[in-house]
Amino acid sequence: MSGVRHLVSIDDLSLAEILGLFEAAKELAKDLRASSHLCRGMISASLFFEPSTRTRLSFESAMLRLGGGVITAADKLMLSSSKGESLADTIRVVAGGYSDVIVLRHPSEGAARLASAYSTVPVINAGDGCHEHPTQTLCDLYNLWIERGHIEGLDVVLSGDLRYSRTIHSFAYALARFGANVICVPQPGFEMPDYVLQRLREEFGVEPRRADVTRLGDLASRSDAMYLTPQKPHQLSLFIDPKGKDVERVDALYMTRPQTERHPDGARSLENYVQLGKLQLAAEPLRDAVVMHPLPRRDEISADLDSDPRSIYFKQAARGVPIRMAILAYLLGALPLQVEGEAAEPRYHAVQLVGNLCTNPTCISRSEARHVPPLFKLASRHPLRANCGYCSHEFAFALVGCTTTRHFHEKDSPEVRKIRPDHLVFFQDLAQASATGFAPAVRPSVSI
Ligand code: NCD
Repeated sequence: MSGVRHLVSIDDLSLAEILGLFEAAKELAKDLRASSHLCRGMISASLFFEPSTRTRLSFESAMLRLGGGVITAADKLMLSSSKGESLADTIRVVAGGYSDVIVLRHPSEGAARLASAYSTVPVINAGDGCHEHPTQTLCDLYNLWIERGHIEGLDVVLSGDLRYSRTIHSFAYALARFGANVICVPQPGFEMPDYVLQRLREEFGVEPRRADVTRLGDLASRSDAMYLTPQKPHQLSLFIDPKGKDVERVDALYMTRPQTERHPDGARSLENYVQLGKLQLAAEPLRDAVVMHPLPRRDEISADLDSDPRSIYFKQAARGVPIRMAILAYLLGALPLQVEGEAAEPRYHAVQLVGNLCTNPTCISRSEARHVPPLFKLASRHPLRANCGYCSHEFAFALVGCTTTRHFHEKDSPEVRKIRPDHLVFFQDLAQASATGFAPAVRPSVSI
């Protein structure tokens, strides 16, 4: 909707705006009780279709501290969705006079993007399936910025369940945008999804470094953890980047719990999930690293680290209040930032996928298919890739057509390069292309 700013993805904010929000949060944090005039008379609606402690309570606390009010629906069984109401309808109702801003958490990927299309008030994504969690990312970046004074050039280790953690995905994109170095240390079996790695590579030119989590403790416990190169003795390096360079000092280690509720095969084996404890943190490259966690934790950080000065996870959660105060006040127009408040440029062209169904089974566009039009976006021209505009999942295709000539080509044909982005249409197979009335190109690149 025109004029309304939503926060669905961390990409919805420019870097200047993010830094402006940090400055504002730092000011607000000096006295959390001193800003109760900023949002007086405004109402925030918490719509939580999934459990939450920190995100919901810090948002609600933030709105109350800004002098506003809060209405909450935090039990999905009590919401009309349990009577079959669509998310689109719920949003239209809650935005229609009930509230001035909606904070939404939902188990389906793309839910907040969908909500933003039906809302006349700002929608804030408080987590959509394993997709994104931009306000947690703002909180995490804010913590890094406070602790380290800057973000560019930092070496940040992401560990734990990199596959299903939305906090990890949003955080990795944001770190890449800020020019920090991302080091992936996944728990075995929980590696970063390809679509995230691909986006880091293609959009931000970042190739995350990788390391084996089992080496963390191994290394610290070895007395021979030094090796010699022809140039100089080195601490045995934990992290090696793709160019073969060692990372000798890590600035932050960000751990996440296994996201069991999102594991498609139910209870995945967590037997090999390595616990971070004093031993692992004794490794030389982690000597000065701050230890972060979005919480809740299970066993992946042992309690013996709670008193370690490098552990900042409880401070990190506390800082969620001032940063969310800044976000709410900014989106509600109550807090001008000292930046040119431009939205990040839209990065995609809409394209058509015949069949019109996202292939991700947990995408909101599947569960709301009766109510919402599908949305597909061009992710990259060379190589040609497109993904769902709600959940960002890439889809496979074999043939590509042009909506004006109504001809189709094999996906790697040079002819495809000549089709304007907004004229592209994707087919999974020949039968689909023919059934839709598309013909092979005049000089066929496809034999039938
Ligand atoms: C995270 C979430 O919900 O994605 N929690 C949070 O918002 N602080 C992380 C998690 O649940 O593991």
